[in-house]
Amino acid sequence: MANKEVILEELYRRQGSFVSGGELAKLLGVSRAAVWKSILSLKEEGYPIRSSKKRGYVLAKRPSTPLSFEVKWGLNTEVIGREVVYFDTIGSTNDIAKEMAEKGAIEGLVVIAGRQTKGRGRLDRSWVSQRGGLYLTILLRPKIDPQHITRLTLMAGLAALRTVASYGLKASIKWVNDVRVSGRKVCGILTEVSGSAEVLDYAVVGIGLNVNNSASRFPVDVRGMATSLRDELGEGVSLVEVVKRLLMEFDEQYRRMKADGFSDIITEWRASCDTIGKRVRVVGISEAFEGTAVGVDEEGALMVESDGAVKKVTAGDVIYLE
Ligand code: BTN
Repeated sequence: MANKEVILEELYRRQGSFVSGGELAKLLGVSRAAVWKSILSLKEEGYPIRSSKKRGYVLAKRPSTPLSFEVKWGLNTEVIGREVVYFDTIGSTNDIAKEMAEKGAIEGLVVIAGRQTKGRGRLDRSWVSQRGGLYLTILLRPKIDPQHITRLTLMAGLAALRTVASYGLKASIKWVNDVRVSGRKVCGILTEVSGSAEVLDYAVVGIGLNVNNSASRFPVDVRGMATSLRDELGEGVSLVEVVKRLLMEFDEQYRRMKADGFSDIITEWRASCDTIGKRVRVVGISEAFEGTAVGVDEEGALMVESDGAVKKVTAGDVIYLE
């Protein structure tokens, strides 16, 4: 464990009582000055640590922000969340995760932001990223054929769906990546990759989940289509807890995919997808048409029956006509 983590653990263990710099220095086998440096750095990260010359250091209450250590504390995962970084405000967590991936960051890195100034959605849209929502990106280095990349998005969708459902809400998935509650979008996923057609170098899976932000404060054009956990539950929930549940669900799906392949995941995904069976309008990259969604194949492509033929949709938007 890093010095800062040992210090936090000790501060938590003391439950609001002071611990002296000398004790911490002894515990870590470092100088008091080194302890002081770590404390400063923790304060900068957002930990409300009070210091007293005579008595040492105290942490009155655990932060409600998903700071790195808060998320890692008791996180029962194999790969996801091995490293967690938190930023109060950044452009886009996907961009930071990509930068870190290029510099060799490990698989399972999670980048979290309190708010984003350049949050991105699919199809070059922006993603409303006000404080209170959850904005995180997971770095993966899976040994899969690049043609199977959509599987990562579907897997993430399932993890997000399970997380939302764990709060007692009835959630469903709208193809390809929208998790919805009461017919409104609560979560979106943006997967971006780097590599060649033959080899995948890494993938970043960005998840935006409306938690304690309220759709009533969204821009008017998306307000009516969105919801949040707070809107649905009538009260806020712990962001730290939401992150943990999401990462644990994601880790479970990722392990499942590596051990057993994709067939169980896609079966569960299909059962949660409310697009299948609906009359839809597909707005693809090169054409738009109407039809009936009849299924989703193993690669996540939507099969739409239109004018007596079944068309395979791999990208674009789907609008429900009923
Ligand atoms: C969509 O439904 O259009 C996808 C939205 C994805 C938003 C998330 S928020 C965290 C990550 N960072 C981004 O800039 N986008 C994704």
